[in-house]
Amino acid sequence: MPEVTILINLKTYREGLGENAHRIARAAEDVAAESGVTIGICPQPMDLHPLARHFDIPVYAQHVDGVVPGASTGHITAEALRVAGAAGSLINHSERRLTLAGIEASVQACASNRIHSVVCTNNVLTSAAAAALGPDFVAIEPPELIGSGISVAKADPEIIGNSVEAIRIVNESVRILTGAGIQSGECVRIATDLGTDGVLLASSVVKAEDPAAVLRDLVSQV
Ligand code: G3P
Repeated sequence: MPEVTILINLKTYREGLGENAHRIARAAEDVAAESGVTIGICPQPMDLHPLARHFDIPVYAQHVDGVVPGASTGHITAEALRVAGAAGSLINHSERRLTLAGIEASVQACASNRIHSVVCTNNVLTSAAAAALGPDFVAIEPPELIGSGISVAKADPEIIGNSVEAIRIVNESVRILTGAGIQSGECVRIATDLGTDGVLLASSVVKAEDPAAVLRDLVSQV
């Protein structure tokens, strides 16, 4: 069975901060152990180190800068993420866009530090462009569906299939995620049937009364 990855972006939601982040990480750890599905979380920077220490799940940053350690201020370096225990970082999220040169620098910084790069994209062409930079993952998320409660898997499956096709022309091995409105096992099944390796999601888990119940549904058709 191909490995399926579910990445939960906690964004800056209060429901995903501090103790709440620990609660979601605990749910992710439990459901990952039960199901064998890889479930990672992307907390806010202050929560990354404690979560990486306490939970046996991959913890990703929401953003990394492509700067080298030294005379730069207010940046997040890939080295700092590695030292803090991060498995990788999102790059170019729809809510944290970078320039093309910035994306490339961040991907390289992750590679130099042996942590995963997950480059987020908004359409078929940018997905192919991101794949050409050689990241570990490309995550295609149509911005208009993010946080909408409308699933990309149901509302716009064409963008997933067409992105997978375009990505494979330039990069045979990059792993592919999709996101925006993902909320159920059916969404995950549609996404993987279309050739992705899993999903990137936020609100359906972060805002849930019972995140473990939502996660169990998400992995139910894997
Ligand atoms: O990073 C995941 C995100 O942009 C999707 O958000 O709330 O639509 O699952 P959401």
